[in-house]
Amino acid sequence: MRTFYCGQITEQQLTQTVELCGWVHRRRDHGGVIFVDLRDRTGLVQIVFNPEQAAMFALASELRHEFVIGVKGVVRLRPDGTQNMNLATGLLEVVATNLQLFNRSESLPFQIAEHSTVSSEEVRLKYRYLDLRRPEVYQRFAFRSKVTQVMRRYFDDADFMDVETPMLTKATPEGARDYLVPSRVHPGEFYALPQSPQLFKQLLMMGGFDRYYQIVKCFRDEDLRADRQPEFTQLDVEMSFQNEAQIQAVLETLIKQLFRELLAVELPAILPQLTYAEAMRRFGSDKPDLRIPLELVDVADLLRTVEFKVFASPANDPNCRVAALRVPKGSDLSRKQIDDYTQYVSIFGAKGLAYIKVNELGAGMAGLQSPIVKFLPQDVIQAILQRVKAENGDVIFFGADSAKVVNDALGALRIKIGHDLQLLTGEWAALWVIDFPMFDFDAVNQRWTALHHPFTAPAVEDIAALNANPGTCISRAYDFVLNGVEVGGGSIRIHDAQLQSAVFALLGISESDANAKFGFLLAALKLGCPPHGGFALGLDRLVMLMTGASSIREVIAFPKTQSASCPLTSAPSMVDAAQLRELAISVKTKMVAKETNHG
Ligand code: AMO
Ligand code: AMP
Repeated sequence: MRTFYCGQITEQQLTQTVELCGWVHRRRDHGGVIFVDLRDRTGLVQIVFNPEQAAMFALASELRHEFVIGVKGVVRLRPDGTQNMNLATGLLEVVATNLQLFNRSESLPFQIAEHSTVSSEEVRLKYRYLDLRRPEVYQRFAFRSKVTQVMRRYFDDADFMDVETPMLTKATPEGARDYLVPSRVHPGEFYALPQSPQLFKQLLMMGGFDRYYQIVKCFRDEDLRADRQPEFTQLDVEMSFQNEAQIQAVLETLIKQLFRELLAVELPAILPQLTYAEAMRRFGSDKPDLRIPLELVDVADLLRTVEFKVFASPANDPNCRVAALRVPKGSDLSRKQIDDYTQYVSIFGAKGLAYIKVNELGAGMAGLQSPIVKFLPQDVIQAILQRVKAENGDVIFFGADSAKVVNDALGALRIKIGHDLQLLTGEWAALWVIDFPMFDFDAVNQRWTALHHPFTAPAVEDIAALNANPGTCISRAYDFVLNGVEVGGGSIRIHDAQLQSAVFALLGISESDANAKFGFLLAALKLGCPPHGGFALGLDRLVMLMTGASSIREVIAFPKTQSASCPLTSAPSMVDAAQLRELAISVKTKMVAKETNHG
């Protein structure tokens, strides 16, 4: 039925008879001759139907967009002047001798043409199978498949074992809400879909498996963004008797190999390692995009005694930060652009965006243009200019607020301006972020939370020290960051039951709660647990970055929308009353059910 794919016809097949199958991408009638662009997953080739074969020609005249056909024909060079240099097969055409119509198509909700900009994503997802027919969409999935092939080969070669872990399980806390599955056999009880295989991969180490990997679905009920889906895929890894550097080397070597083999990109031999503290100080983010050559600079110490309260109050508050962001050549920014940036930082809670335009450094105050210099003593202004290494033509932006607001606002502004002014230095910037704090204080609920997950080992395994000062404890966690996206993360785990109990206690998990939720882990820790650690890599995010896609939805065959629904199948949906009865579940009303979904 088929001897070649459409996109694979080359001059080698000249004068040969080939058999092709695919979809009618386009049909043109030209003075008694019909041309059809036939498409399959590899691309297009032009088919010519001549009127001499009357029956076939009549059938060819019926062809419309997306009819599914089989064609037998002879490959020849296109006549001079009709070649299409934009097409891989553009020098050739196939003169049909046989045509078989497999199926018709009704008129389409959108055209499949290669570069068509389809109206809404909702419509594209509703007819995802049409969207997937576009060769450039197919290419992304072919690429994703190559990525997992390389991964499997890499881990198989390195003596890792692929082990499946349960999908119907107990909650594993990774910081999101769980998706719950009701049990029919145990009315009123629920399984949780795993947020990650974290506890199972640790238990596999306790089972002596030593080196585990899995390419696995994870489920998290959280607010969705361009790089977040409710179900997504992790490359999950765990190893016994290995330290941070060894585990990081496993991931780093893999990523370098993927870039080399699939993109012909050589990542730097040594990737930077930034501590969390340094990343926050210099970039306002724990996943900094190092392609952007702009940095935050602390200036609070210069502003403690000034009268300008907007700066002086946060400068004197240990929970606050006053930072400057110098943008070279930024003094060309218009008033409107600066107003837009001020609006932009307000999304992150900033109450304003003070700035100084440096027109002429030698000209004193006259050389500066700024709404705030009039509030500041001259020597302070000079000290700030020196501190940020100001040059003529710069603009210096300021953030003064709680450390979180300043980091979020200036960190995001840094990225936005970096893209707007095209300051990016190179295509790829990968790094490790290390030395994360163990705990984060949740001011709303007045309690400590785990910055990674509660199984992460502290750098100093001293329970008294942990309890004395949780806020200053550093963990043995590490994140892998690529172009400002957190692509992966992991840690050395706690392998001591007492230490694990102490961390649970610090997180406000009572002993009985800890036993109810994690008793199996605590028991296993007491029965010969090796030191172990691992990581998980977000496969969707990695493929998104490597293919240049703008969202992980582009690299997931059947993704969910922003509201966690599937326009294709209309999931989630109501279920039969009988099914609910069997599960001992009563739904109050649809509205209430919807509300609880969103917490
Ligand atoms: P973590 O929670 O950091 O670690 O997840 C690992 C990686 O998974 C990706 N990721 C997501 N991708 C798409 N949509 C989501 N909703 C989503 N959430 C996370 C990210 C992230 O870096 N068990 C630990 C790993 C470990 O400690 O070994 C874990 O799951 O790229
Ligand atoms: P105001 O005194 O409120 O008019 O502010 C003077 C300048 O400081 C304006 O340019 C504001 O955008 C800026 N500004 C106000 N609050 C802050 C803040 N928290 N951080 C940085 N700049 C601010």
